[in-house]
Amino acid sequence: MRAAYAQTLSADDPLSGLVVGERPDPTPPEGWTRVAVKAASLNHHDLWTLKGVGIKAEQLPMILGCDAAGIDESTGEEVVVHAVINTPGWTGDDTLDPGRSLLSEKHQGSIAEYVIVPARNVVPKPKDLSFGEAACLSTAWLTAYRMLFTQAQLQPGQTVLVQGASGGVATAAIAMARAAGMRVYATARTEAKRAAAAELGAHDTFEPGARLPERVDAVIESVGEATWSHSLKSLKPGGKLVVCGATSGANPGADLNRVFFLQLQVLGSTMGTKAELTNMLSFLHTTGLRPLIDRTIALESVGEGIEAIASGDLVGKIVIEF
Ligand SMILES: NC(=O)c1ccc[n+]([C@@H]2O[C@H](COP(=O)([O-])OP(=O)(O)OC[C@H]3O[C@@H](n4cnc5c(N)ncnc54)[C@H](OP(=O)(O)O)[C@@H]3O)[C@@H](O)[C@H]2O)c1
Repeated sequence: MRAAYAQTLSADDPLSGLVVGERPDPTPPEGWTRVAVKAASLNHHDLWTLKGVGIKAEQLPMILGCDAAGIDESTGEEVVVHAVINTPGWTGDDTLDPGRSLLSEKHQGSIAEYVIVPARNVVPKPKDLSFGEAACLSTAWLTAYRMLFTQAQLQPGQTVLVQGASGGVATAAIAMARAAGMRVYATARTEAKRAAAAELGAHDTFEPGARLPERVDAVIESVGEATWSHSLKSLKPGGKLVVCGATSGANPGADLNRVFFLQLQVLGSTMGTKAELTNMLSFLHTTGLRPLIDRTIALESVGEGIEAIASGDLVGKIVIEF
């Protein structure tokens, strides 16, 4: 089968290790199923993989990709793949399993004609979502959903700041927060990205670090060092800073005085459960909300897509159609 995979790892020149070529057709072991992939999407995770973050050279070659939508060959159903792979027998919250991994970490990823996953790792694709739209959801969108509704527990009418508005997680957070009735503020580094955030549903947009008209109930943080201090400063007393990523660096100043004096809550968040994915698909189905797709590309152009992620030259998700 055709696939995009990491052949080597390089922190300085990540694209040098990317190959689009042939890999063996996978055969699902007992309890797993094979999905014929109709569409996959790129995440910052794929760039991290090529840089050697979260993967060792002895695991190579590793097919990239966490997200896919396609046909479950065991049932013939149209499905969305849930990318969190649990330890066999794990029964708690999918995301709290100490042995969990995402597709393309231990198990081969989704940017291929076929991907194999445990049979429980597929959920029905709503018919009104295209395969391309559905392929955007199981990493960036699911992460944003858990951050907003499970971790921050935001209620309609509350306020939220989304940092780094153009990213996959950030665009999802803006769109879902707006649809769920929150007042949404967003920051982005360029005027064009701020305009895109406003079109997506942000009530007001700002340059990174700008003073907001009011303090917010929660911040959705995936940028890290570049925005962390502003995130802390933007919260009301008792506010929640939910963090899922650290694209610009992982060690900002802690500003402990502010954290304890204002009784702020810093909450880590990773991906989401299968139940959250199912609820989110229903949320999109009932509201008509759809992921913002920056572009749709062919498998051969995966390198161009990853370059866009590395340079920040995108707004929303990049979809690969098979
Ligand atoms: N924990 C999890 O389960 C999980 C799940 C998904 C993603 N993540 C992590 O979350 C991060 C975002 O993922 P993604 O897929 O949404 O990435 P993405 O689509 O590539 O978005 C990158 C974002 O980073 C911002 N950014 C990068 N460098 C910046 C800087 N120096 N200053 C300000 N903003 C900067 C961009 O903001 P602008 O709009 O201003 O350009 C953009 O929002 C990644 O680190 C990823 O690994 C974690």
